Amino acid sequence: MKMKGLLIVSLLAVGILGCQQTPEGSFEPGAIWPDNNGVHINAHGGGMLYKDGVYYWFGEHKIEGKAGNKAHVGVHCYSSEDLYHWQDEGIALEVHEDTSSLLVEGCIIERPKVIYNEKTGKYVMWFHHELKGMGYDAAMTGVAVADDVTGPYTYLRSVNPNAGQWPMNYPDSLRKDTTTMASLERWSDEWRKAVKEGLFVRRDFEKGQMARDMTLFVDTDGTAYHIHSSEENQTLHVSELTDDYLDFTGRYTRVLPGDSNEAPAIFRRGDKYYLIASGCTGWAPNPARSAVADHPFGPWKPLGNPCRGTEEQVNTTFDSQSTFVLPVQGKEDAFIFMADRWRPKNAIDGRYVWLPVEFEEGKPVLKWRDKWNLNVFDKQ
Ligand code: GAL
Repeated sequence: MKMKGLLIVSLLAVGILGCQQTPEGSFEPGAIWPDNNGVHINAHGGGMLYKDGVYYWFGEHKIEGKAGNKAHVGVHCYSSEDLYHWQDEGIALEVHEDTSSLLVEGCIIERPKVIYNEKTGKYVMWFHHELKGMGYDAAMTGVAVADDVTGPYTYLRSVNPNAGQWPMNYPDSLRKDTTTMASLERWSDEWRKAVKEGLFVRRDFEKGQMARDMTLFVDTDGTAYHIHSSEENQTLHVSELTDDYLDFTGRYTRVLPGDSNEAPAIFRRGDKYYLIASGCTGWAPNPARSAVADHPFGPWKPLGNPCRGTEEQVNTTFDSQSTFVLPVQGKEDAFIFMADRWRPKNAIDGRYVWLPVEFEEGKPVLKWRDKWNLNVFDKQ
């Protein structure tokens, strides 16, 4: 009897503990994702930093309506230990009321990303920054810094990067090319060829290069790279950041010239670097692309559309656009593709599409799942 009782108690205990250990949570791409206050997470075009056992999600804070496509509040931060439950950490970088500041309310802040600098102990945020009243013409990248991961972040400056520097993979012969835009019809074959050959790199050489959709990537040796759509969104630039991550070293390469890549997301798996990006159709979704390289500077080899599924899913990246690929801590080869389902008419209602990155024949592959959890990575 005594033994039997003990057995029942033990079984119950195992049952209860077992339940507690089961990850309580799941991802539902495209649904409302409530934070700890029951409010839909407001961190669009986001990126993730993992630090001391906690994931920090930074993204664009949107407000209601079309007005939400501009920055009225700043960059929002959330934290989570398990990726399912998110705590609101408030606004990490606030827009300024001071009209003389470039970060004034009503400018555009997009795709903020935060990295931690081991040498300085500072958190560094870079973001796509467009100046108030100038549409998307400024094409700048802004930088802010903080002592604590959740902020407050102090805005330092915005730049068109790499002024006066040639890309490392840009041949001498083309540096002297005198082709100008005036003689070329936009989108003609001649124009496309000239763009591929660096028409806009030469145009922007002195002033600094254009920087729109962007991401950051820190390699295992601590070197950080700023990856952005440049050259009128026709070509990606991969730029090295200085040791403190607060500036550009001037070393950069042109990647996939003329391929119109936006929304870049980069991750490393083993010795290979992978890129997932989108085409260039504003807020409307389009087919994703992927590429692989042996170094962030490239050369990058296109691997095609990583999406699998119905024609519509493949052509619209599941009605979303990439923003980040998150390495899941404590699991091998586990990566989450993070994307935005934009709602430009009511920006605050934008949704999040997260999917596990699978690999088939050395290529990243994305498949729709209505609901999933991190256990998918254990079955591979
Ligand atoms: C997208 C871009 C977004 C935003 C939008 C504006 O292509 O990825 O971040 O800039 O255009 O139309």
